[in-house]
Amino acid sequence: MKHLEGPLLPILHAVQHTFGHVPNEAVPMIATGLNLSRAEVHGVVTFYHDYRSHPAGRHVLKLCRAEACQAMGGDRLGERAKNRLGIDFHQTTADGVVTLEPVFCLGLCSTAPAAMLDGAVHGRLDAEGLDTLLAEVGA
Ligand code: FES
Repeated sequence: MKHLEGPLLPILHAVQHTFGHVPNEAVPMIATGLNLSRAEVHGVVTFYHDYRSHPAGRHVLKLCRAEACQAMGGDRLGERAKNRLGIDFHQTTADGVVTLEPVFCLGLCSTAPAAMLDGAVHGRLDAEGLDTLLAEVGA
């Protein structure tokens, strides 16, 4: 993956910043421009969790999947979120309200488990707190 990172990452970043995701239609153009295969570009888009190949929902809930949060019940929280929303990580609810994403450390390890909803961080999240966050966004 390292050899692909030159100009590709800034280009993907710019595309996602503009469109909110990296549309599948953009992959061949980027590949041609950088003399890469479509598979290589697609591989990078799917490898880095920050890139999306589909538009996000109106709200984005990121749950920390890193070690400290997992040790404090992050797994159970993830399962609860998936069950409540009826989706898996990297998916968006059918009504387009919430996208659920994993994140690998939010720098809140001392207040694990941690989450981020629409850019706002939340520590010491328990099942009740998660339900409250989801209720706030109408999920
Ligand atoms: Fe979850 Fe650091 S491990 S915030």
